Amino acid sequence: MAARPIVVLTGAGISRESGLHTFRDADGIWASVRIEDVATPEAFARDPSRVQAFYDSRRRGLLDPAIRPNAAHGALARLEARWPAPVLVVTQNIDDLHERAGSHALIHMHGELLKARCLACHAISPVRHDLASGVACPACGQRRLRPHVVWFGEMPLGMDAIAEALDGCGLFVSIGTSGNVYPAAGFVDHARRRRARTVELNLERSLGADLFDEGHYGPATEVVPAFVDRLLAECG
Ligand code: APR
Repeated sequence: MAARPIVVLTGAGISRESGLHTFRDADGIWASVRIEDVATPEAFARDPSRVQAFYDSRRRGLLDPAIRPNAAHGALARLEARWPAPVLVVTQNIDDLHERAGSHALIHMHGELLKARCLACHAISPVRHDLASGVACPACGQRRLRPHVVWFGEMPLGMDAIAEALDGCGLFVSIGTSGNVYPAAGFVDHARRRRARTVELNLERSLGADLFDEGHYGPATEVVPAFVDRLLAECG
């Protein structure tokens, strides 16, 4: 049977072994700072400096040379390169590790830490320095940049393209996500309704584990390459 398109959803767990924290693990980001204080439009309106400082710190962390893609990111890039049908990675992560590993068909549904969005002209531009320094928008010159990150209460990005990809995929793989946050947590149900095979690869069973046809549990750098190798061997 001809190989079918694949949709892969990733969450913070795929970047954990690269040195980036997850959100809801014991040492996760939300264990030390409240979502309401740094990751909502209301927080930004109330105290923009605190929100900018939160993302400036995470951006500096991501740009540390020690932070590099890991074998799980690399396995997904290999899958895209060698699978005889489209492979789309939909990531909830705002890091650039999938790009640096070589993935091309990629949707950052929660935005990107290395991009800024202008509140005056809505232009999106690359950023590798602190926004708190009041850097000017390269398009309009105004000093009103916010992180190009989707906050709680805002609409995730690329939803039409994601829905279309889920409609047509034969395999949906969820990697390194706890299943806490919608709409991403609902993608498995969308894929099931379209008769796709559904697989969870995670350190532990997620909230939606029972919705998957199969699950393989362990560190992403072990379970993802092994799964990709089996897929590629199956397709010959
Ligand atoms: N390998 C594989 N999975 C791992 C690893 C690892 N080394 N380490 C942790 N995990 C798993 C955890 O078991 C957990 O199920 O990754 C998942 C991380 O879950 P969360 O911290 O909730 O992160 P995520 O699911 O990506 O959060 C979704 O919530 O706060 C928002 O916008 C934020 O995009 C984020 C969204």
